[in-house]
Order: sequence, then structure tokens, then C-alpha cells
Amino acid sequence: MRRSEVNEIMARADTFIRSHGYILPPFAYWTPAEMQARRGDIGGIVEGRLGWDITDYGKGHFAQTGLFLFTVRNGRPADLAAGRGMLYAEKIMISRVEQLSPLHRHVIKAEDIINRGGGRLTIKLFASAADGSIDREARVSVPCDGVMRSFGPGDVLALMPGESVTLMPGVWHAFWAEKSEVLIGEVSTVNDDLTDNIFAEPLDRFSTITEDCEPDHLLVSDYPAWLG
Ligand SMILES: [Fe+2]
Repeated sequence: MRRSEVNEIMARADTFIRSHGYILPPFAYWTPAEMQARRGDIGGIVEGRLGWDITDYGKGHFAQTGLFLFTVRNGRPADLAAGRGMLYAEKIMISRVEQLSPLHRHVIKAEDIINRGGGRLTIKLFASAADGSIDREARVSVPCDGVMRSFGPGDVLALMPGESVTLMPGVWHAFWAEKSEVLIGEVSTVNDDLTDNIFAEPLDRFSTITEDCEPDHLLVSDYPAWLG
């Protein structure tokens, strides 16, 4: 993706998020230079990989295959190992109309995917076979706002604003918005996007950026190069 495209997506996302009454935390608006100047105080942001995350999954067509994410909070891997403490994470995401987030599952993370407003969020579901691969024959049951619902392999669950689903580790899922873009909340177990996304086809979770202008704000995937 081009940096100019990333800047444009950030500005558009901020407007859309605010239009639904959700406001990003202060560090969302820091410039790269401000982040560098504060580096000594922001270990929690850098190590938790909090912040802007825009991906085209390496396919080069953001409108068709892509997702806007912002990680608002993230727990500590050490707490996860200890079984107590900050075991949770929260993201706010935007899926555009017919913009696919490709089929994947998680090993560690359970996630609630919440339609926080906009159009209809559609989620294709499969169960995992014993070896973790896609089970194209088994039904899959998922809790939706406290009520269990059962789906055939590859069936599509539709969430209207206010509705949510809990996806336990191993449940394969792909999603996109219908009719109008959707503001999506995610509440999950501690999140590690470097290791805990298993895709059905080979994909890059983070995009390679072509630097055609200065970044307005850093992406999480910029942190190693810009912040060490
Ligand atoms: Fe997921």
C-alpha cells in the first residue's frame, strides 16, 4: 500500500468512528515525531502493539480484500501464562461494503465480534477438523449474545447493529459488510497478530508500505523501524 493511501484511510476512519460516538484514545493523534520524543514513556503502546493497523493482506486491493483496525488496549502475554491479570484486548475496526477479511482462525484468542453500527456484518463460518484444517462437513455452534446458534459448514451469520458473536479458538471465520460499511468492535483474549492468525490461503497479515509521502501517524507495523 502507498503511505498516501494509508493517511487517507486513517482520516476517513476517524470521521466514521466519531460519527458513531466512539472516540479513539489520545495517542491515535500523535505524530511520528511525538511518538519518538515520548519513546521512553510509551513502552505499553509499543510492546502491546496498540494503535493504527491497516491491511490489504498483501493483495494490493484494499477495497476488495482488507480491513481497518485500531488496537485500543491489549493485555500482557505474561499474565496469560500466569492465568490471571490483564488477559483481554479491545479493537475497533471498519469493514467496507463487500471488503473481505479472508478466512482465518486463531489458536489462543477467543474474540467477540460486535456490530457497533452501520450496515449488516456477514460472517462465514466453518468448524476445525482435529488437525485444525477447515472441516467442510461439520456444523459449527457459536454463542450470539448469550444464545447458541448452529450453522452448516460455510453458512453465513448476519449481525445487525448491536448484535455480536463469540468465536472460540479454532472456529474459521471470514467477514465483510453488506449494504453499508460497518463499525466493528472486537473484545478478545490477549492479542498477538504476529503469531495468532492462521489463514486458509497464504497471506500477509501486514502490508508492505511504499513511502510516497510522510506518515500522518505510525502504523503498528511501523513501530520496529521508527521506534526500535
Ligand atoms: Fe479473527
